[in-house]
Amino acid sequence: MSKLWGGRFTKTAEQWVDEFGASIGFDQQLVEEDITGSIAHVTMLAKQHILSEEEAAQIKNGLKTLQKKAAAGELVFSAAQEDIHLNLEKLLIDEIGPVGGKLHTGRSRNDQVATDMHLYLRTQTEEIMEAIRTLQAALVKQAEGHVETLIPGYTHLQRAQPVSFAHHLLAYFWMLERDYGRLQDSLKRVNISPLGAGALAGTTFPIDRAYTAELLHFEGIYENSLDAVSDRDFIVEFLAASATLMMHLSRLCEELILWSAQEFQFIEIDDAFATGSSIMPQKKNPDMAELIRGKTGRVYGSLFSLLTTLKGLPLAYNKDMQEDKEGMFDTVKTVKGSLRIFAGMIETMTVNTDAMAKAVTSDFSNATELADYLATKGMPFREAHEVVGKLVLTAIEKGVYLLDLPIEVYKEASSLFADDIYEVLQPKTVVGRRNSAGGTGFEQVKLALGKANDLLSQS
Ligand code: ARG
Repeated sequence: MSKLWGGRFTKTAEQWVDEFGASIGFDQQLVEEDITGSIAHVTMLAKQHILSEEEAAQIKNGLKTLQKKAAAGELVFSAAQEDIHLNLEKLLIDEIGPVGGKLHTGRSRNDQVATDMHLYLRTQTEEIMEAIRTLQAALVKQAEGHVETLIPGYTHLQRAQPVSFAHHLLAYFWMLERDYGRLQDSLKRVNISPLGAGALAGTTFPIDRAYTAELLHFEGIYENSLDAVSDRDFIVEFLAASATLMMHLSRLCEELILWSAQEFQFIEIDDAFATGSSIMPQKKNPDMAELIRGKTGRVYGSLFSLLTTLKGLPLAYNKDMQEDKEGMFDTVKTVKGSLRIFAGMIETMTVNTDAMAKAVTSDFSNATELADYLATKGMPFREAHEVVGKLVLTAIEKGVYLLDLPIEVYKEASSLFADDIYEVLQPKTVVGRRNSAGGTGFEQVKLALGKANDLLSQS
C-alpha cells in the first residue's frame, strides 16, 4: 500500500517490517483525541487564511464523518499506514478527496502525537481522580460504622497499641488524598498545548497557537517548540503518581489478605470479590486483592520503562518515543480497574468486630498506657518503661495479661499504682484517650471523619 510519505522512496518495506514499526495496534485508542486535535487545527488554518473557508469546511465535515464512523466502530485501520495519524489522514483523503491532504499544513506528526497524548491524559487523569474519590467515599462509609471498633495496631507486625478501626481505614483515605493531589497537580503540566510546534522548529505558516490551545481547552502553550515535541515528562509524572497510588492500594490489599486469613479473621471479603479453589472445597481466596497487589508491579514497570526510554534521547523527536504509549494505556486500565474493584471490595466487606475485640484483649498492647500512667504521676518515662517491662515479664511467666495481674503485684512494682489502673488498661480507654491531633482517640477520629466528608463534598 502506498505511503503518505513515499515520495523520496524507491522501494517499499516488507509487510513484517511495517508491522514492527507500526503503532496502530495500540495508538488507535487515540482516535477521538486525534480527530479533536485535527478539527482545532483546521479551524485555526481557516481563521488564519492559510486554508479557505470552503476547504476547511470540507475537511471538518470529513473529520466529523470519521468521528461518527469511529464511534460506530466502522473505521478500518492498517499497519501499512503505521499509526493513528497517518491512518486517519488516509481515511480522510479517501472520504473527501485530495483536499484532505491540506489538513497537515503547518503541522507535523510530532506535535500532533504530543497533542493527542496531552488530551488523552487530561481526560484519563480526571476520570482516575473521580475513581479515587469513589474509593475514598467507600472508606469513609466503612469507617463511620467503626469509630469505636478496636483493632490491634502493629509495628514490625507485632501487636503495638490498639487503634480504632476507623482510624486505620482513614489512614488510607489520607494517602489517597495525596494521590489525588499529585494527579491534580500534574494536570497543570498536562494541560498545555504542544500543537503548532511543528516537527521541531515551528513553521513558516502564520499559525495561531494560542487559538488552537483555546479551542482544545488548554491553559497555555509550550514556550519552546523543541521541548514541546520531545519531552514526555507529563507522562512520567502520571506514571509516578500512578505507581505511588498503586503502592498504597497494594498495602491495603496486603492487609485485607492478612485480615481475612484464618489466623486473623478480622474481616471477610464479600463473595462477589473472592474466588474458590478448583480442588479444595473449603477455600475462599481474596483474589481481587491479590491481583491488585500483583498489578502494582506492571505500573512500576511502565514508569521505569519510560524513564529509561527517555534518558538517552537527543532532542527532538526520536522513534523510541513511540514506546511511551503502551505503558501509559496499560497503566490507565490497571489503575481504573483496581480503584473500581477496590471501592466495591471495601463497601461489601464484613467486619468481624468480635474477632477484633477478642484480639485487643489478648495481648500486651496496653503496656504503653501503664508506662504513661506512671509518667503522669511523675516517674521519668524511661524508668516507667522499665517497671512496666518487668510487669509484662511477670504476666508472661504467669501466663496472663496485664488486666489479670492482682493489684498487689502492681503496688509492689511501684507505689504510684492505684486501683484505677484496671480502668486505664481497658482497650476502649487506651484508644479513646489518645486524643492528640491526628491520634486514634474517638474525638480525633470523629473530627477526621468530618474533615474527610468535607473534602468529599467539596469536589
Ligand atoms: N507513531 C508515532 C509515535 O507514536 C507518531 C509520531 C511519528 N513521528 C515521526 N516523525 N515518525 O511516536
